[in-house]
Amino acid sequence: MTAENRTEGMPGRPESFWIATAPRTYEPSLIKDARVDVAVIGGGVAGIMSAYYLKEAGLKVALLESRRILEGVTGHTTAKITALHGLIYDHLIAVFGRERARQYAEANQAAIEEVAALVDRLQIDCDFSRQPFHSFAETQEHLHKIEKETNAARTLGLPATFVDSIPLPLEVKGAVRLDNQAQFHPLKFLRAIAATIPDNGSYVFEETRALDIEDGEPCVVLTNQGKIKARDVVVATNYPFFDKSGLYFARLNQVRSYVYAIRTKEIYPGGMFAGVDKLSLAFRSQPTDAGDIVIVSGVEHKPGHAASTVSCYEDLAAAVNRIFHQPVLDYRWSTQDNVTIDKVPYIGKATPFSKRIMVATGFAQWGMTTSVVAAQILSNLIQGKPEDRAPVFDPNRFKLDSAVARELVSHNTTVLKDLVSGRLAKPDEDVTKIKPGEGKLAGRDGKKIAVYKDMEGRTYTLSPKCTHMGCIVAWNDAERSWDCPCHGTRFSHEGEVIHAPAVKDLPQA
Ligand SMILES: Cc1cc2nc3c(=O)[nH]c(=O)nc-3n(C[C@H](O)[C@H](O)[C@H](O)COP(=O)(O)OP(=O)(O)OC[C@H]3O[C@@H](n4cnc5c(N)ncnc54)[C@H](O)[C@@H]3O)c2cc1C
Ligand code: FES
Repeated sequence: MTAENRTEGMPGRPESFWIATAPRTYEPSLIKDARVDVAVIGGGVAGIMSAYYLKEAGLKVALLESRRILEGVTGHTTAKITALHGLIYDHLIAVFGRERARQYAEANQAAIEEVAALVDRLQIDCDFSRQPFHSFAETQEHLHKIEKETNAARTLGLPATFVDSIPLPLEVKGAVRLDNQAQFHPLKFLRAIAATIPDNGSYVFEETRALDIEDGEPCVVLTNQGKIKARDVVVATNYPFFDKSGLYFARLNQVRSYVYAIRTKEIYPGGMFAGVDKLSLAFRSQPTDAGDIVIVSGVEHKPGHAASTVSCYEDLAAAVNRIFHQPVLDYRWSTQDNVTIDKVPYIGKATPFSKRIMVATGFAQWGMTTSVVAAQILSNLIQGKPEDRAPVFDPNRFKLDSAVARELVSHNTTVLKDLVSGRLAKPDEDVTKIKPGEGKLAGRDGKKIAVYKDMEGRTYTLSPKCTHMGCIVAWNDAERSWDCPCHGTRFSHEGEVIHAPAVKDLPQA
């Protein structure tokens, strides 16, 4: 069976539940050069929240989005709003010390209250509800880590408790529980926030891709539609498209994972749950007019590194079918996020030399709170206000303890291997042998090309060299995209950039 046939046979509509159930936006593109106080690049949670606070502070803001806002990672999240970020606090105390770890915990806990306050103040109908959150272990090996995490969280002031079971049909060894966390429909919330931005000299420009930034006074953002001059610039493109001397490509890892929205015969007991074992299974519910659905996520890999992403969905579906009795799999989607070398996001000046260019990235699959923290910090820094949380998240911190240094070396060795092996690998196929539904690297006239043949037999041939730093892309059979194994850029089968850091499409070959 070809990959496309397997994709066609997969259960679930291939669309994010959030995108399918929130109204779309149709903001204009930039049509002539503009001047604002702050240009915010990237229309996900980090960019929208940053633009919101900056505008609230009286600044004129332009939010630039290369495609449509909220259709990137944020449109494909699972939106559990919590200060318990897997196994983080024991690690933070060891690497950063107790005081910085406490600031991290407080900042994230405060972000939950901030979201709650915004929902209340702006009367946003977004299914916000308070829920307990649990990080759970299914294996003895991880149980020990859960116990340590409970203690670490408690010493930092989070009222976490250890529990030896959770109310899901899953055998667990133990879990750390934190009450009064929250969940919402992320797009209903963020579309309401985004709607407050355009007006009074502030703008949202969709289908406007930033290509470069000239640092200066003012900075100039060069886009595919024109220029924007701004005193300050915030880069919130998930993976920073603008690097210069920031070396983000050397210190961010990407993790891609999979989601199903399902209906179950079992009544969902409430609560949010995230496993720390191999599959990283996570669960929450979401109210709909037809009753609650359950959002289940799990199965992780580096983008461009899975032999078959259809198999990743199949692995998640197998887990869902093992846990629930004859569930109905309604929607499926997948997305990716960045993890920094020391697991704490980079929020602040993009490089030690840039005066006016800020960055927010590395949310490690916890961006519902850390993006809010990022937006507050960046808004304060841009206004010249004191910000005592800034040192915790400073992108230019280089506290390389031996574990962090080892991680840095290992990450870059993998990237180098991907670059070299991709260039040296023989193409899989002769173009003529590629079957409908397949995407493969093929050889033509002694050159490697990326070929996709759709079910109608149309053939799309592209250069396989990623326009970011030249690694060779790999076919993603479930999403029908070309994904770069080095830093996670994704291109559609027609070559369009659909995920940063690259800004140039793959040329036709
Ligand atoms: C499977 C999964 C589940 C998750 N679940 C949770 C959860 O339960 N709780 C939680 O807290 N977090 C969760 N996260 C993490 C969270 O979703 C992310 O951290 C967050 O959405 C990232 O937001 P962002 O603004 O950085 O990125 P995005 O939402 O991707 O926004 C960046 C935007 O920038 C645009 N862009 C890119 N390049 C350019 C350019 N050159 N010019 C203009 N625009 C550009 C993109 O099109 C995109 O819209 C999850 C992540 C994953 C992968
Ligand atoms: S994303 Fe960096 S080389 Fe492709």
